[in-house]
Amino acid sequence: MPASRSHERAKARPAWIPGLLIAAALAIPAAPAAVLADGGRRSPDDPAWREECGSCHVAYPPRLLPAQSWRRIMATLDRHFDADASLEPGRARGIEAFLVANARQASSESALRITGTGWFRREHDEVAGLFSSAAVGNAANCGACHPQAEQGRFNEHEIRLPGGNKR
Ligand code: HEC
Ligand code: HEC
Repeated sequence: MPASRSHERAKARPAWIPGLLIAAALAIPAAPAAVLADGGRRSPDDPAWREECGSCHVAYPPRLLPAQSWRRIMATLDRHFDADASLEPGRARGIEAFLVANARQASSESALRITGTGWFRREHDEVAGLFSSAAVGNAANCGACHPQAEQGRFNEHEIRLPGGNKR
């Protein structure tokens, strides 16, 4: 429902803009993993992507999947993980261009799920047992442990595991 999504976006704005400013100001040192090449720096943004791809779940940042994965996802939006996420073709093309231009580099993977990629499983093997806990639900619920997921930030120093344990 485009109207209510636009409404959510209008409400969300004040919350994430300060987040981006803080991220830019902190200049967190780059983490070793290739996927974090942009460390604490500001994530690329696109209003249509944030609105349409952030209405059911967090707008998963483009750098988390390779271009081939984003193309497959955008080609099958009408049967998107059991949901119908179809978009007007022009809007879908614009979002696909944004995702592909900012995709994860140097990967031959084409997984449809971030949580199905090799890097994700390696990063999370210590906490995989928590994914099905009541507080998390499943691995795709990034925000349960990464409070800044909405701002596209997954830095290992900002993780807060359910139960209040800061890592
Ligand atoms: C109508 C709701 C809806 C919309 C709109 C939507 N999605 Fe999803 N998306 C889902 C559902 C449901 C899942 C499966 C979540 C789960 O397994 O718990 C999902 C999962 C995903 C995943 C896999 C997450 C993982 O690693 O498990 C990606 C990537 C994704 N969506 C990208 C997008 C993109 C890109 C858009 C915008 C073009 C979008 N989604 C719009 C409902 C939606
Ligand atoms: C159950 C909690 C939990 C969930 C849910 C979770 N993560 Fe994580 N994530 C972690 C922990 C803990 C680490 C740190 C692993 C380490 O450093 O050993 C991590 C590390 C990461 C890293 C690497 C951070 C760094 O600085 O090296 C990225 C990127 C990341 N997660 C993205 C995601 C995304 C995207 C999702 C959702 C699709 C997600 N995570 C869901 C707990 C979680």
